[in-house]
Amino acid sequence: MKEKRNITIIDKKQIPSEEPARQYYFMDIAKKYVAELAEQKGAPLTFCVTTFGCQMNARDSEKLVGILEKIGYVEAPDEKADFVIYNTCTVRENANNKVYGRLGYLHGFKKKNPYMMIGLCGCMMQEPTVVEKIQNSYRFVDLIFGTHNIYKFAELIVTALESDSMTIDIWKDTDKIVEDLPVERKYSFKSGVNIMFGCNNFCSYCIVPYVRGRERSREPKEIVREIEHLVQDGVVEVMLLGQNVNSYGKDLEDGISFAELLRRINAIPGEFVIRFLSSHPKDATTELLDTILTCEKVGKHLHLPVQCGSNRILKEMNRRYTVEQYLEIVHYLRQKDPDFSLTSDLIIGFPNESEEDFQGTLNLLRTVQYDNVYTFIYSKRSGTKAADMPDVTSDQEKRERMERLLALQREIASEHYKRYLGRTLRVLVEGPSKKGAGWLIGKDRAYIIVEFEGPENCIGQFVDVRITGTKNWAVSGVLVDGKDETKHDSE
Ligand code: SAM
Ligand code: SF4
Ligand code: F3S
Repeated sequence: MKEKRNITIIDKKQIPSEEPARQYYFMDIAKKYVAELAEQKGAPLTFCVTTFGCQMNARDSEKLVGILEKIGYVEAPDEKADFVIYNTCTVRENANNKVYGRLGYLHGFKKKNPYMMIGLCGCMMQEPTVVEKIQNSYRFVDLIFGTHNIYKFAELIVTALESDSMTIDIWKDTDKIVEDLPVERKYSFKSGVNIMFGCNNFCSYCIVPYVRGRERSREPKEIVREIEHLVQDGVVEVMLLGQNVNSYGKDLEDGISFAELLRRINAIPGEFVIRFLSSHPKDATTELLDTILTCEKVGKHLHLPVQCGSNRILKEMNRRYTVEQYLEIVHYLRQKDPDFSLTSDLIIGFPNESEEDFQGTLNLLRTVQYDNVYTFIYSKRSGTKAADMPDVTSDQEKRERMERLLALQREIASEHYKRYLGRTLRVLVEGPSKKGAGWLIGKDRAYIIVEFEGPENCIGQFVDVRITGTKNWAVSGVLVDGKDETKHDSE
């Protein structure tokens, strides 16, 4: 049982029924509670939001931070904070295990800090067995909510602060999108922008449709308005986010396509780069490919997850394309732009993947020449179709296949990157590089990772870098003086 908090409960009259007014009403109440507790503590209350999983979760965390800051919490450097939130992922088993492991460690902090609250949200919380386990074994958790009601965070904080038991609010699905809530960007110069939520594809291995619900697209005018504001605010890279961005708009009344959305965003004045994640090969129409190739603000890069190079396995995965159809997209793009950059996700060890199936994946890698691949060993997710498929391949064999695949990709990429030697790339500088003091890292329009030595004040700007070296995941070079024309307003 939780201790009851020492706060003066505020009488709630005329709670607005419309959103987002309702949440702003609860933010005001939460702000008063947080101020009262800060006075008792003799210092501001602090928070720490830890994000697991994909860019969708990262963007959701920015929304949580926006609300926490609005109600008076101050960001802490680590988890020794007064409000720790884990925004969880459940796409693979090890993502879940990480959360359980860290919860035990948080309990130690909580015993010593009477102001501390622990909140859990995100995809893992959409699984009833997970919530049951937390209720039984992690009773010190204060608040649990899911992916569909994240917009209610302010209201849920008020409930949790007023309550002496665990607050749980999980929705099975929703058709609601709430606009105009506070959000705190992690970077000043780049931002994710949700264009749609959910997924309808039900790939047989994947839990995402079960935990993120059905596809819901935001209205194009809301997306354009958000991006106009971001660009005015100095953002030079927008990443459009959705589980399958190229099915954007299919659920909207006017039936706008993703290609049309890209054209409308491309027409927004200002120098900025448009990127997007993820695209499904089955929805990569020629209209879309032409739009990407011709809109000058759209990065010449496509993250087009193939998952594997065997038609038999692709069918079992319910991916709804063949290797040949996938390669048609690749050839179309590379024939129009030989430098067009492609990246992919690959699953190794899907149930009963044979050596021959795996050879198909290696061959595909040789043909496509990806700039980069994200590789995952298949993880069984209960409730998905693949979870019931028999699997005879040993874990050892799956790990060996992974090693072979990574070795091949290293070989391909180091050869592939040599084409950039001597060229000058226009790079958006993202921050310091791990390479050492004075080194910076950024990405060019085709999403090529570029390392170079330069002053920290060019972070967030476009600069020109002449490429002098390559590795198997990036290129390196020297800053070309006097070419960084797109300075920030703040400069
Ligand atoms: N919607 C995106 C798509 O279809 O490309 C990706 C979504 S998922 C969050 C990211 C990647 O995780 C997938 O592309 C897939 O490679 C991988 N993944 C999903 N389920 C998995 C599982 N059960 N085991 C291993 N990898 C998985
Ligand atoms: Fe998962 Fe497939 Fe949807 Fe991607 S498209 S989120 S892999 S079900
Ligand atoms: Fe994980 Fe949810 Fe993203 S399961 S990968 S955080 S959509």
